[in-house]
Amino acid sequence: MNSVPIGLGIAAPKKSVDNKELPKELDTSDEWIASRTGVRRRYIAENETTASLATEAALAALGHAKVSPEDIDLIVLATVTGDYTFPSTATIVQRNIGMSKGVAFDVNAACSGFIFALDVADSYIKLGKAKKALVIGAETFSKILDWTDRSTCVLFGDGAGAMVLQAEDSNRGVQYCKIYSDGNYADSLITSGGVSTTQTAGFIKMNGREVFKFAVEKFRESLDELLRDNNMTINDVDLLVPHQANLRIIKELIKFSGIDEKKVLINVDKYANTSAASIPLALSEAKDAFFSGGNIVFLSMGAGYAWGSALIRL
Ligand code: COA
Repeated sequence: MNSVPIGLGIAAPKKSVDNKELPKELDTSDEWIASRTGVRRRYIAENETTASLATEAALAALGHAKVSPEDIDLIVLATVTGDYTFPSTATIVQRNIGMSKGVAFDVNAACSGFIFALDVADSYIKLGKAKKALVIGAETFSKILDWTDRSTCVLFGDGAGAMVLQAEDSNRGVQYCKIYSDGNYADSLITSGGVSTTQTAGFIKMNGREVFKFAVEKFRESLDELLRDNNMTINDVDLLVPHQANLRIIKELIKFSGIDEKKVLINVDKYANTSAASIPLALSEAKDAFFSGGNIVFLSMGAGYAWGSALIRL
């Protein structure tokens, strides 16, 4: 049994903030942010929450797939900015979309969340434990940004993306999904608190330079491994969807892999880094090309450190 993507949906908050609209006290500039990161604007949640954005994206994906919520028997939702400490944001989405059977739960893998959630859902489907699944990445990172720290707050934004997977007895769909983590780097990208330590959610703290280097290294290693394990060369990849953390990291990826840059999806300029939502949001830029077929590769890296890769063939 294989899991085949049959629908994709996204959602973003109403409010978009460009670099020039950021608070003056930050002492930053559009020029600095755009040249160091590629970010030009981001969406910021006001009335939206992670669950409301996830619900909107899920309903859009179900509409695209022409699947009714009652037919979904699994939701795996990746987020580190859930609506509540508990219950899971996935169960809020389950209620919101009117799905009563099956199971819904969250996974926490920060910026690699979407690939981690995809791996879980794909495994459930391959084991025959689910037939139709929603894989969702949804975040409101603006809520855990220290808006006085210019080295982090300019980098992130809010949004959600959802994919419907269907069990099919075919060779199409998710061919390969591999996830990794190394907790020795837990302190390099971390929040300043949490329920059990400070009784708050905390704010993002990051060793930017180290994260940058590690991301490039892990993109390289996991892409090499994916190509090797699937007897492919970079020329066999039709679409490459990297996590949208920083345009300079993506440019490094283009350089070392030798991929034709027209095949690489980039929208960090308009969403900034939306963590678990970034891969489906980037994929939405080429929705028709994705569903029209080919070899599609996802790559991600983030807090943990946690990283991963996936190959989908449609
Ligand atoms: N505006 C203006 N200046 C800024 C700034 C901002 N928003 N943020 C930092 N600076 C300043 C610093 O204070 C520093 O000034 P100094 O030289 O006077 O001390 C200078 O710019 C250089 O800072 P540095 O941190 O060395 O810049 P950098 O070139 O490494 O770029 C990042 C910083 C954060 C953009 C870069 O390290 C990065 O993208 N890292 C990866 C982050 C990431 O993707 N995280 C999520 C992964 S999932």
